[in-house]
Amino acid sequence: MIIDGKKVAFSILEELKEKVKKLDKKPGLAVILANDDPSSKVYVSSKEKYSLDLGYKSCVYRFDKTITQGKLIQLIHELNENPDINGILVQLPLFSHLNEDEILELIHPKKDVDGFHPVNIGKLYAGLEPYAVCCTPKGIIKLLKAYNIKIEGKKALVIGRSNIVGKPVASLLLNENATVTIAHSKTKNLKEYTKKADIIVSATGHPKLITADMVKKGAVVIDVGIVRQDNGRLVGDIDFEKVKDIASYITPVPGGVGPMTIACLMENTYELFLLQNKR
Ligand code: GUN
Repeated sequence: MIIDGKKVAFSILEELKEKVKKLDKKPGLAVILANDDPSSKVYVSSKEKYSLDLGYKSCVYRFDKTITQGKLIQLIHELNENPDINGILVQLPLFSHLNEDEILELIHPKKDVDGFHPVNIGKLYAGLEPYAVCCTPKGIIKLLKAYNIKIEGKKALVIGRSNIVGKPVASLLLNENATVTIAHSKTKNLKEYTKKADIIVSATGHPKLITADMVKKGAVVIDVGIVRQDNGRLVGDIDFEKVKDIASYITPVPGGVGPMTIACLMENTYELFLLQNKR
């Protein structure tokens, strides 16, 4: 069965729209773009569009490479203090002359809409409730639940160990009582692990890394990879056409995990708004 991320994301956004209509103040999301990566530009524009569609206040700060660490630090402080802003998102990566870790740590944990602040990561790892859970990992768990896919007791394999996807999704799967393995670029004989997995979450950005011979019959396969090929087509980590006949559930690229990330970002903004306004 093909998991329809667009459909699940749409229903989250529709529900959210109704809740936002009832508020007497708009939730506010600030997005900072300080890199010249073309896909980051697309993601940021999309975050702006979805915010406005929901009736949020949207503030996007686009910088060229003359931006300094000092100016960015000052902006984060201002946004932390601004009562109209409930969520602050720094699109990653930043220009290489900027210190990403320092910037992320300066965001107030209750405004950390991406869930990347060490306080929120620490809460997630400790099995406590973060103020916000990283959007893509949260979206993956929501997709599994939307399709009533059992996580507890399953062998889950996460491929990739980034702070954005791999590590937090592994923590969430563990919190859902899966038996979790994390594989990465230095893992030897990846197939040995994929063959045993009931749930595979692949987040490497290597097109068609996971081929049909690597997947156990009936496994659930979640593809977080997304790369634009020279012919303009978007491809994921999974050899979708062949793996779909072996998997019980599989996410397509595009239309799988991607739409869930943005829906969860919008949901996180709303939840942080409620937290900050104590409703
Ligand atoms: N760069 C790639 N993915 C993400 C994400 O989910 N959030 C941010 N802030 N930057 C990213």
